[in-house]
Amino acid sequence: ISLKPHNTFGMAVQAAHFCQLDDTAQLPALLASSAYQAGPVLWLGGGSNLLLTRDYPGLVVRMALRGIRLLEESADSVLVEAAAGENWHDFVRYSLQQGWYGLENLSLIPGTVGACPVQNIGAYGVEVKDRITQVVCADLHAQGARVVLDNADCRFAYRDSIFKHEAAGRLLVTAVRFQLSRQPQLKTGYGDIRQELEKRGISHPTPLDVSDVVMAIRASKLPDPAVLGNAGSFFKNPVVEQGQADALLQRFPALPHYPAGPGRVKLAAGWLIEQAGLKGYRQGDAGVHARQALVLVNHGQASGSQMWALARHVQDAVRQRYGVELEAEPLVW
Ligand code: EPU
Repeated sequence: ISLKPHNTFGMAVQAAHFCQLDDTAQLPALLASSAYQAGPVLWLGGGSNLLLTRDYPGLVVRMALRGIRLLEESADSVLVEAAAGENWHDFVRYSLQQGWYGLENLSLIPGTVGACPVQNIGAYGVEVKDRITQVVCADLHAQGARVVLDNADCRFAYRDSIFKHEAAGRLLVTAVRFQLSRQPQLKTGYGDIRQELEKRGISHPTPLDVSDVVMAIRASKLPDPAVLGNAGSFFKNPVVEQGQADALLQRFPALPHYPAGPGRVKLAAGWLIEQAGLKGYRQGDAGVHARQALVLVNHGQASGSQMWALARHVQDAVRQRYGVELEAEPLVW
């Protein structure tokens, strides 16, 4: 089976076995199947955080669990559960239409609800961990038994969670529970959002306005995977020790940086890459995006290994120039 329609880089690699999970009731049979037992197994949401560099010799399972349920409501807030296979952006817009606020800054992020806690998606001053109460999982080591993790159990951090570590390959996210507010509590402090609201002459934005503005900002900087293959930011913004940051800021006073906990500083990787002269750089069809240097794009026929070679070239250039290590954000197979 070709995985081309199942990854946003558009890599035409093959999977030996492929199936779709529509109902958690299918899990025991799936876990007992010979394809699952033989492994390896790749659980796939929207395929928007994945670089495939070669054929997959095992089983790929596409998560297609659907459904959005209101679990509890009060005058001020709601508790909503969305199934893993729901499209993230559609869920965000649906929630806003219901008058459930809090996800507006996370509009237009590609992928599924099930993937959102794994890498703790974040944008424009909000991380999804700020809205998640619980993550419903299936324990793959116990016939798919249901396990519910509280927010603290998920060990959320910047683009990170337990699902990338101890729980990887064991706990499958089947649904996510969000606490959303009925009263707008807007986060519009991010420079791009302020500017765009001002440009539109909106002084008292609604959550839907913020969502619209975020969509416009993203559309202006980030390539649409349907047009140009990509996986969003290809690298995490690196977090370094204060001393290293101070030394870098001496040499590069314009380097954008943010506090990242005691004695730690987060640096803008897009700036480092751009100032290393690599914005818009291409090796054949593998390129650094011309409008956001943190995004690598497939201009057409690049293979996964060509994309990965470009990623290593970027890492080398940044290491040489700044002594900073860039960590790839998507899963690389
Ligand atoms: N910058 C440059 N050149 C570039 C890109 C960025 O100089 O080519 C500078 C910008 O001028 C700005 C700073 O770097 O001063 C930060 O840029 P931006 O606001 O575009 O955000 P980012 O740090 O590059 C992160 C997330 C994005 C998220 C935005 C907005 C990561 C890895 N990426 O990017 O998330 O949308 O902030 O909050 O943290 C993703 O994870 O796939 C993603 C798109």
